[in-house]
Amino acid sequence: MSFPSFHLSDHKHPILVFGRDGQVGKSLQVCLGELNAPAVYLGRSDCDLSNEFEIRDVLKRYQPQIIINAAAYTAVDRAEDARELELAFAINAKAPALMAHHIANVSHGILVHYSTDYVFADTQKTPYSEMDITGPVDQLCVYGQTKLAGEDAIKQAFGLAHHSGHAPPHDEFSRYFILRTSWVYGDGDNFIRTMLRLANERDQVKVVADQVGTPTSAQWLAEIGVQMIGSDVESGVYHSVPDGYVSWHGLAVFVIESAASYGESIKVKPENILPITTQEYPVVAKRPLNSRLFNQKLKKALSGTAFTSAYPHWQVQVEQYIKDYVATSLKN
Ligand SMILES: NC(=O)c1ccc[n+]([C@@H]2O[C@H](COP(=O)([O-])OP(=O)(O)OC[C@H]3O[C@@H](n4cnc5c(N)ncnc54)[C@H](OP(=O)(O)O)[C@@H]3O)[C@@H](O)[C@H]2O)c1
Repeated sequence: MSFPSFHLSDHKHPILVFGRDGQVGKSLQVCLGELNAPAVYLGRSDCDLSNEFEIRDVLKRYQPQIIINAAAYTAVDRAEDARELELAFAINAKAPALMAHHIANVSHGILVHYSTDYVFADTQKTPYSEMDITGPVDQLCVYGQTKLAGEDAIKQAFGLAHHSGHAPPHDEFSRYFILRTSWVYGDGDNFIRTMLRLANERDQVKVVADQVGTPTSAQWLAEIGVQMIGSDVESGVYHSVPDGYVSWHGLAVFVIESAASYGESIKVKPENILPITTQEYPVVAKRPLNSRLFNQKLKKALSGTAFTSAYPHWQVQVEQYIKDYVATSLKN
């Protein structure tokens, strides 16, 4: 099935963006702003996603044809506290379900939703494709479980709508894009910033070396989301990561060496960034050792756009981020 290309200025109502103050949300503001796309950006104070009534109210008020949901309960370790469970599920599963129900019943509606590699437990050593089975649920951390429940709720809402009499006619089908990603860094708290801080405070830093994944730029994720809106690709899950992979330890070494090469004063010497195992760094929530996501489906979906010809490697993006960090005010 193919869909007509959708131009950002074609729709009657502004794009509704949830997660305004998060890493991806901030990048979406920059990206959509540069395109002069009409958009409304909502933070927690505008719409608390744990409150169903506030969500319904916002959907009724703005009647969006396009929603980008970059909001999430992302406190991975805190989510393991039983008292947080209901809240995490409300934000990561129930809220996207409401967004999906709205968009699924709108002509040419589009929902862009970000998800995570944490929907996979360590069932394989090779990169996961979109066809690979998620879970098993009881081996996922609570955050992963809630994000998976959000994915399922979105698929269900669109499945139900498209089989009911309330859905738009076939040629006006609405679509959803679940962009699964990993190791996000942008304007916010993230691993890279933590490493740069520690590198200036300590003589020695220990970093986990047996977890591998792909660092992903929030700015690039925002661009991917916007690109999908303008595309004619089908609904579905898209693994949205740059090329290549690395361990947390490898990333720490790369970050610190890059920062030093751009003139940042670094206290720790590269040989004093010590590799340790996951077992030696106990945390509350269980993280997968293998976070690698196979990105061919996304590349194919975007083939023919300027985007794919410049499909990035994580090193190029991280290096640019470090360069900007050293040169400007990311430190402040
Ligand atoms: N960060 C990663 O490494 C990573 C990895 C894989 C996937 N992802 C996914 O990528 C997406 C974007 O992540 P990110 O790094 O940009 O996350 P982030 O920086 O933690 O931002 C999440 C945003 O969600 C908002 N939020 C949380 N609870 C809310 C509530 N009750 N009502 C309204 N807003 C609420 C937060 O608001 P406040 O600013 O007010 O707290 C925050 O601005 C998420 O779907 C996440 O699951 C992230």
